[in-house]
Amino acid sequence: MNNNDLNQNRRDFLTKSAVLAAAAGTLTMSTSSAQATTAAVDKPIAVAGYVKKPQNLTDVLMNARKIMDTCAACDISGAGRCNGKGPCGETVPGMGGKRLSFVRNIEAFEEVSLNMRTVHNITQPKTEINLLGVKLSMPILTGITGGLTYNMGAANKLAFDGEMMTEEKYARGIIQGAANSGTIGWAADGIGDPLETYKRRMNVVQEFKGRAVAQIKPRTQKEIFERIDIVQQAGAPFFAIDVDSAGRAARALPGKTVEPKDLKKLKEIVNYAKIPFIAKGIMTVDEALMCAEAGCGAIIVSNHGGRVLSSTPATMHVLPSIVKAVRDRGYKMPILMDGGVRDGGDVLKALAYGAQAVLVGRPMIRASLGGGVEGVEMLFKRYHTELVSSMVLTGVADVNNVDPSILIQEV
Ligand SMILES: Cc1cc2nc3c(=O)[nH]c(=O)nc-3n(C[C@H](O)[C@H](O)[C@H](O)COP(=O)(O)O)c2cc1C
Repeated sequence: MNNNDLNQNRRDFLTKSAVLAAAAGTLTMSTSSAQATTAAVDKPIAVAGYVKKPQNLTDVLMNARKIMDTCAACDISGAGRCNGKGPCGETVPGMGGKRLSFVRNIEAFEEVSLNMRTVHNITQPKTEINLLGVKLSMPILTGITGGLTYNMGAANKLAFDGEMMTEEKYARGIIQGAANSGTIGWAADGIGDPLETYKRRMNVVQEFKGRAVAQIKPRTQKEIFERIDIVQQAGAPFFAIDVDSAGRAARALPGKTVEPKDLKKLKEIVNYAKIPFIAKGIMTVDEALMCAEAGCGAIIVSNHGGRVLSSTPATMHVLPSIVKAVRDRGYKMPILMDGGVRDGGDVLKALAYGAQAVLVGRPMIRASLGGGVEGVEMLFKRYHTELVSSMVLTGVADVNNVDPSILIQEV
């Protein structure tokens, strides 16, 4: 199947999912127009054996495993970590990603250990941060993940609660689950997504004004500005562009163009937007400095979870030099990271390397698909509990001040 066919399939699915979402009552659409269009679509697929009211993360993962075709939710089977070594393979779209970069992200966390220190009086460490004016209960955000219904094989299927799985439903799980946990969730932009699909995701962002943020693909400047207007109207406090999606530039179709962004274009985006712009997918010191010079509100050190280039370094390997270079030049912009953050101990390690916050991708995807809002809340709670426990056991009082000496490099 060539890329044009794939894009056509995605477009077909998105059109169909909009209709199905309307049929399931998740979109505002007049009854008559919904009835008129649903006749043409396939019958939604019921999935057997769901836990209808998931009580814990095991139930959530069991549900997620049932709805997804491209992820085996290995965590259930005792592996404990989604590490790219399971049967997910090297497929994109899907959870696997380009195996080497994905696996390296995980292994980089395993190379560093936490120095255990318990002779102190820290019992209630502080986990709150202020990120670009937004107070968060913990330095953990959801990953930026979209297209889950079509990327994960959840298209045309009923979710665990018996309702049609749609992009809006997925976004709600992520965004409301994060907001209820006192932090923030991202709505994504898929390269092939029509503007209408993006607007529907922004409706969810608008509902959680100030507690939901949005990403835009590195489209043409004109298309980016059009989406920035929508994001701002939805009340998002900041937005990101995953500049590392530029790899699809060579395959772009009319209206689906993505492109690398040079310093001039970064500055144009910063100047156009009334809210802070975060550049996601920064892996080198020089580009981090260009983002700082352009006036970006923050950067996310990320290799897209290993999904765009098969042989990048781990994000944890490049993070310290990026932090050092940015801080040495006096820039205060927050530096976030993602890729392989699988528990609260990993969060603490990233903070010790100088990150202000982390994003969690694949585990949140499964939480939303398998447990919706409550599934995402359960996962945030687990990460928070583990973070607090790791802080007590390493003698860290405040996530805003984590000393690198809590880490030991394994040799
Ligand atoms: C299925 C899937 C879809 C993704 N979609 C997007 C996207 O639309 N935009 C984006 O910036 N990153 C996207 N990402 C990358 C994530 O934002 C994030 O960088 C990555 O998942 C972090 O690694 P982790 O999954 O190991 O936590 C996606 C990742 C996955 C697994």
